[in-house]
Amino acid sequence: MKYLKITAKVRICNYEELLFEEKILVDRAKAATFRAYAPYSKFNVGAAALLANGEVITGNNQENVAFPSGLCAERTTLFYAHSQYPGEAVRTLAVAAYTEGDFLDRPISPCGACRQVMLETEMRSNQPVKIILYGKKEIFIIESIKDLLPLAFDSVAIQDEKIIL
Ligand code: THU
Repeated sequence: MKYLKITAKVRICNYEELLFEEKILVDRAKAATFRAYAPYSKFNVGAAALLANGEVITGNNQENVAFPSGLCAERTTLFYAHSQYPGEAVRTLAVAAYTEGDFLDRPISPCGACRQVMLETEMRSNQPVKIILYGKKEIFIIESIKDLLPLAFDSVAIQDEKIIL
């Protein structure tokens, strides 16, 4: 019998430790939360994508009374970015969540469907997408979606895993 040991690397830091361009992206994601349409969950999520050409595309969650018809902030943002700039790689994606009058202390982690879309974004450009998950007390930085979506439905993603006998 063999086991596959899956490891994920997540760097934890605070806002002051971010690079200047990372701070700007986090600020844009935070601002985008206030434009979210989240009347049902009252959980506002904002995202900001930095593209290879320097453009920043922002988006947020868009809910619907028929719940499954809504869309998360990450997918709204990545789909819009690709619809506007189909040839541009996404370098970094920042995500922030705001509820009950404040941003969360700890980051939220993207849902499975958003991870799958992030993987496609990364595979399309063949370059890692850095993911910054904002929390007031802790920020998670993940250098590639492969750390968030191990064993992904993709023929090459599995090559990075470690096989332990
Ligand atoms: N949501 C996001 O937009 N992104 C996430 O990473 C997690 C959840 C949204 C979906 C829904 O509109 C609300 O947050 C509550 O789940």
